[in-house]
Amino acid sequence: MKCYIYIFLLLSIFIISIQCELITFSVATAALSSFAYYMYDKYNCEYQECCTDKYILSDIDRLNYMLTANLYGQQIAHETIINALRGYFHTHNSPKALVMSFHGTPGTGKTYVVQMIATALYKEGIHSKYYYFFNGRNDYPLQRKIDEYKEELYEKISESLRKCERSMFVFDEVDKMPEGLLNTLVPFLDYHSYHKSSKHNEFIYQNKAIFIFLSNTGSAQIVRQLASLWERGKKREDMRLQDFEKLIADGAFNEKGGFHHSDTIQTNVIDYYVPFLPLEEVHTRKCIVRAFTERNVISPKEDMIQEILSHLSFGPKPHNLYSMSGCKRIELKTAAIVENLSNSKST
Ligand SMILES: Nc1ncnc2c1ncn2[C@@H]1O[C@H](COP(=O)(O)OP(=O)(O)OP(=O)(O)O)[C@@H](O)[C@H]1O
Ligand SMILES: [Mg+2]
Repeated sequence: MKCYIYIFLLLSIFIISIQCELITFSVATAALSSFAYYMYDKYNCEYQECCTDKYILSDIDRLNYMLTANLYGQQIAHETIINALRGYFHTHNSPKALVMSFHGTPGTGKTYVVQMIATALYKEGIHSKYYYFFNGRNDYPLQRKIDEYKEELYEKISESLRKCERSMFVFDEVDKMPEGLLNTLVPFLDYHSYHKSSKHNEFIYQNKAIFIFLSNTGSAQIVRQLASLWERGKKREDMRLQDFEKLIADGAFNEKGGFHHSDTIQTNVIDYYVPFLPLEEVHTRKCIVRAFTERNVISPKEDMIQEILSHLSFGPKPHNLYSMSGCKRIELKTAAIVENLSNSKST
C-alpha cells in the first residue's frame, strides 16, 4: 500500500512539474509573441504609414496658415472650416463623424481646399492611405448600377474605418452621382459613435472620421444671394455663413444629381454647408500673379495680366462682377504666355 502511495506521489509531482513547465512555456511564448508583434508594429510604423499620431497630425494651425496664405476671397469658407475642425478635434468622443459639404461655382477653390485639409491632417497629405477620394462622374457613372455601387461603397467605407477610424472621405462632383447613392452613407454620418456591421457582426467606429462632399449644386443660389447682398450695399467681408447655408441646402436638395431628395440632407447629418463664393476680378488677378511668380516671372506686366483676364468671362449680367470659371484655366494660360516669352527671348 505504502508503495502505491509513493508511486502516486511521484506521479503527481511529475505531472505538476510538467504542467508548470507548460504554463511557463505558454506564458513565455505569449510574452515573446506580443513583444515580437510590438517590435514588428514599431518597426513597421517607423517606415510605413500607420493610423497613429505620428502620421495623423491634425494640424489645424498649419491649415489656418495655408488658407490665409493661399486662398483668396473665401473668408466664410476659411472661418467655417477652421472652426468646424477645431471644434471637432477638441470634442472628446464626438457623437458623430464631421460632415461638411462644399458648394460653389467652378474654380472657386473647393478641391484646392480639400487638398490643403489633407496636407494638414495627414503627414502623407493626399497620398495618405487614410485619405479617400471618390469622383461622382468617373467612379459612379451609371444610374442603372446603383445597387452594385451602394454595396461597393458601403463595404469600402466599413473596411476603411476598420483600418483607421481617423480616415477622411471626399466625394467630388456629387452632382454627377446617381441619385440615391449617398443614402448608403447615412449610417456612417449619423449620430452614433459606432454602428454594427451586419456582414462582419462587429462594431465600426465612425465618430473620428471626416466626410466632405464637393459640388456645384446650390451655386446659382449663392451667386444670386451674393449679387443681391452686394446691390444692397453689404460688403463681401461682412457676409456670414448664415446668409447662404439654408439656401444651399434647399438648392442642393432640389437640384438633379447626388443630393436630389437625398437622405443626407433630409436627415440633417451634414454639419456644415460651406459656400465658396464666385471670385471677383481682384481675386483672379491674385491667382494670375501667383501663377506667374511660380514660373519665376516676378511682378508680371499689366498687359500680361490683361491678356489672361481677357480669356475669363465675367457674369452674371448686368454687373458682370464674377469670373464664371473662377481661377480655373489660369495656370495653363499663364504657362503658355511664359513659354512664349522665353521663346521670344531666346530668338
Ligand atoms: N479662392 C481661390 N484662391 C486661390 N486660388 C484658387 C481659388 N480658387 C481656385 N484657385 C486656383 O484654381 C485652381 C482650381 O480650383 P479648384 O480645382 O479648387 O476649383 P473647384 O472649386 O474645385 O472647381 P470645380 O467645381 O470645377 O471642381 C486651384 O488649384 C487653385 O490654383
Ligand atoms: Mg473641384
